[in-house]
Amino acid sequence: MPKLPDSGFNRVAPYYDALVRLVYGTALERAQLALLPFVPQQARVLVIGGGTGWLLEQLLKTEKHLYILYLDASPAMLQRAQQRYSRYKNPHFCSVSFRLGTEQALQPHEQFDVIITPFLLDLFPPPRLRQLMQELTAALAPNGKWLLADFWPARQPTPWWQQVLIKGMYVFFGWLSEVQAKQLPDYGSHFKVLGFEVNFSQQFYSGLVQAKVLERQLT
Ligand SMILES: C[S@@+](CC[C@H](N)C(=O)[O-])C[C@H]1O[C@@H](n2cnc3c(N)ncnc32)[C@H](O)[C@@H]1O
Repeated sequence: MPKLPDSGFNRVAPYYDALVRLVYGTALERAQLALLPFVPQQARVLVIGGGTGWLLEQLLKTEKHLYILYLDASPAMLQRAQQRYSRYKNPHFCSVSFRLGTEQALQPHEQFDVIITPFLLDLFPPPRLRQLMQELTAALAPNGKWLLADFWPARQPTPWWQQVLIKGMYVFFGWLSEVQAKQLPDYGSHFKVLGFEVNFSQQFYSGLVQAKVLERQLT
């Protein structure tokens, strides 16, 4: 069977969460939690690259009425998210659909009030990232919000230990998960070209990780 595009995280799916916890403690989770207050009631939410479903569970816990599309390129990650969802027994008010695939699996008519990219954008080299971000922008409603959590060093120059950690991650996930990028992208310029401004920002892990809310300025 031909390999699915961007499905390289299959190999790490069984131990991805444990690995992240080991290296970063709860910092990556806290960065994602910081975004949840920005998800409005009744929102159509796209979670792309959510992995094993931890973030999905946090969305359910908000007790908001949400319509969630959970899109991930790795069958093993998506399966874990689906299992986690079926085990979630508390009452919630979300309608959730799961879809296997990349941004290419979005339908032209699909529009979202919120798009969440949790540690996704750092995986792609600039040309591919540009394309992916254009596709996501097209799927975002005109006054929608882009919620991002990612490795985005706040301190410049980037401290040496952060550089070492970033390099190590690219080597490790490049080898194991076929991550194509070799360094962190210049997120700011990619968002600027698409007309986004940062409306909220919070730092984690001594500024190596940031949570941001971005919106387009409507003319
Ligand atoms: C670095 S992991 C982050 C997982 C999760 N967000 C977390 O923080 O624990 C990246 C996730 O994005 C998925 N992914 C990679 N490329 C993708 C794409 N083009 N479209 C959708 N999902 C993608 C991977 O399968 C993986 O689950």
